[in-house]
Amino acid sequence: MLVLGVETSCDETAAALVADGKVVLSNVIATQLDLLNKYGGVVPEIAARRHTELIGYVIKEAVDSGGKTLAEIEAVAATSKNGLIGCLLVGVAAAKALSYSLRVPLIGVHHIEGHIFANILSNPKMPVPHICLTVSGGHTMLIYVHDYCKYEILGNTLDDAAGEAFDKIAKFFGIGFPGGPVIDELSTKGDRKAFRFPRPLLGSSTLDFSFSGLKTSVINAFKSRIAANEVLPVEDIAASFQEAIVDVLVSKTLRAASERQVSVVSVTGGVSANRRLREVFSNACQRKGIEVFFPKLSLCTDNAAMIAAAGYARLKEGEAAGLDLNVIPSAPFEV
Ligand code: KG4
Ligand code: ZN
Repeated sequence: MLVLGVETSCDETAAALVADGKVVLSNVIATQLDLLNKYGGVVPEIAARRHTELIGYVIKEAVDSGGKTLAEIEAVAATSKNGLIGCLLVGVAAAKALSYSLRVPLIGVHHIEGHIFANILSNPKMPVPHICLTVSGGHTMLIYVHDYCKYEILGNTLDDAAGEAFDKIAKFFGIGFPGGPVIDELSTKGDRKAFRFPRPLLGSSTLDFSFSGLKTSVINAFKSRIAANEVLPVEDIAASFQEAIVDVLVSKTLRAASERQVSVVSVTGGVSANRRLREVFSNACQRKGIEVFFPKLSLCTDNAAMIAAAGYARLKEGEAAGLDLNVIPSAPFEV
């Protein structure tokens, strides 16, 4: 079955063709990096307007580069839950128009489920059950994946998501947006032991996360050294900050795996592209005899292939939406 995926929940206008929930035929992503750099982040209203300008071209490009025609599309899936309301509306409206005119099923997808399927697309042999760490600009969640489309939330962020912390720290230092890739790169030149930043909630029994205090302590360390006229290599701060985040993410994920006696974990979302995170996860999992999976780099950050794959799985469960499908900006992740 040929599914067209549409993703416009934040700043990426994306469309993709996926066959049978497994084979990515095309994966087109138009970023708004020019706007992000101009405004230092996403401005919801401006992002939504840019989606309306681009969505038609992006869908056409996905269909053409996938070597298919509109008439061959058998279902349309769009992100309808979690994201910026104006942005979500653009993708869902486009998906409805196609579903109506092509007379094919419409499926609304939760963005987090999309990220889970990015890993399933990248690693078709990844077994269930497993523990999935979804770590992005908007979410830091530990999810017990009992089966496809059957989830249990084990932990969540209490304040900033990990990617958000990367973005805010990069913004504070004026080194670019989004902050994750910049800090990832800068950290390769820094000493990760130069500063011992706090590992929030690491010692407690909860599987929840909190990164707001870590961000404050990085800013305080910087300010106090500047006040003392000390020169600070920003690379060392970046590497030490990244190490604190990585430490917390890996430790909590492995604790969840141990508590649930699961020997497979997956990491997904934009932050799963982080090189140090992948390295520490791989080493720690090898020591504990745990298998770890990451998405292909092209599927870590927001894309529509993951939405098409999740939509296909939902359709197989007998779920399809009507043309009254609405968007929900902050819907709980249903299990
Ligand atoms: O999944 P995503 O594209 O959007 C959301 O669903 O939020 O994730 C974007 C986030 C941003 O916060 C960005 O800074 C972060 O992923 N990110 C990274 C890296 N690449 C993207 N964080 C750390 N290291 C990276 N290499
Ligand atoms: Zn995302």
